[in-house]
Amino acid sequence: MDINTIKSEFPIFSKKINGKSLVYLDSSNSSQKPISVLNSLDNFYKNEFSNIGRSIHSLAVNATNKFEETRISVKKFINANSKEEIIFTKNATESINLVATTFGQQNINKGDEILITELEHHSNYVPWHYLRETKGAVIKFAPINDDGDIIIEKLKELITSKTKIIAVTHLSNVTGTIVPIKEIVEIARKKNIPVLVDGCQSAPHIKIDVKDLDCDFYAISCHKVYGPTGVGILYAKKKWLEKLPPYIGGGGMISEVKKNKITYAPLPEKYEAGTMPTAEVVAFNESIKFIESIGMENIINHEKKLTNYALENLKNINSVNIIGNPKNKAGVISFVIKGIHPHDISTIVDEEGVAIRAGHHCCQILHDRLNLPATARASIGMYNTKEDIDVLCEAIKNCRKVFELK
Ligand code: ALA
Repeated sequence: MDINTIKSEFPIFSKKINGKSLVYLDSSNSSQKPISVLNSLDNFYKNEFSNIGRSIHSLAVNATNKFEETRISVKKFINANSKEEIIFTKNATESINLVATTFGQQNINKGDEILITELEHHSNYVPWHYLRETKGAVIKFAPINDDGDIIIEKLKELITSKTKIIAVTHLSNVTGTIVPIKEIVEIARKKNIPVLVDGCQSAPHIKIDVKDLDCDFYAISCHKVYGPTGVGILYAKKKWLEKLPPYIGGGGMISEVKKNKITYAPLPEKYEAGTMPTAEVVAFNESIKFIESIGMENIINHEKKLTNYALENLKNINSVNIIGNPKNKAGVISFVIKGIHPHDISTIVDEEGVAIRAGHHCCQILHDRLNLPATARASIGMYNTKEDIDVLCEAIKNCRKVFELK
């Protein structure tokens, strides 16, 4: 599929924003949805809707089967060992909260240490902070260098006999750093420490292979993977899901309920209480099919070329300062322009139909480390083109004119 054909699969690109063609460079925040995903949502509600896992009438059985088909697709997509290791949640934030709460309940005591990094977004910090508040845990931050790479030697030095878990992003939503997860897992393995990987940003842009990474937990938000909102994934090694307590209690996650005793459902239902986002999970299967029809390798190559093109062109604009220069970078480009607040940059480029994000991108720790209150961020998706980057660059030049910068 060529890039214009790919773009034409996303109905939103036929819309005008402020009278201009939409240039969507906010995919790290959330991605746009292909027509197959939208059709699936529409079709499921119109023709196939039923709750799952409860009733045994035809609609319910069909809906349950379709829901489970997505689980099998996700298993293949991330190369998990079994479908029982795939838990549907609301988003990656809930996936990380699930692990922090259940793992914390069982394994964290006063003075125990949780090792995260300065790259983490709030979803991979706040849930661990709860354990600091409730259990007296200690949170340590592996530092980054000025390029935005985690200093692995320092991370190693921060591991002690009290380190109970390492939680780290796979891809920074500010610097675009692709973190060497395998190296970190190898370090952790030697000390028998489990590793949670926050895959919020990586899942749409990197081939995920949880067997190869050998991580214990992997969290994904489907709305960033060209899927609907309201669906997340937690991958966890079966041994953890069997050992950890349940998270949310209610219907669907029980086996037997008596006045004096409750037993829980086997995996994966143990972690899927209440009515699930059924249509959304079913539709997410179409996102995976869409990605696979293009091929992850092709997406990676396209985004790599486009990122390099964007970096070259942005660097040529006076006073644009790109944040970070990591060894291995994905299509997330944060920048500042001296003399213009990032919110002003975003507002001015928006007039040209260009959607970028401005602020701290839910990464206040990282912005403190960078000594910046905020940055502007252009983030690339599979549907972006060189023309999109050209429009962004022209819009930025226009910002400089508005602010009368030389
Ligand atoms: N949604 C957040 C972002 O924009 C985390 O990167």
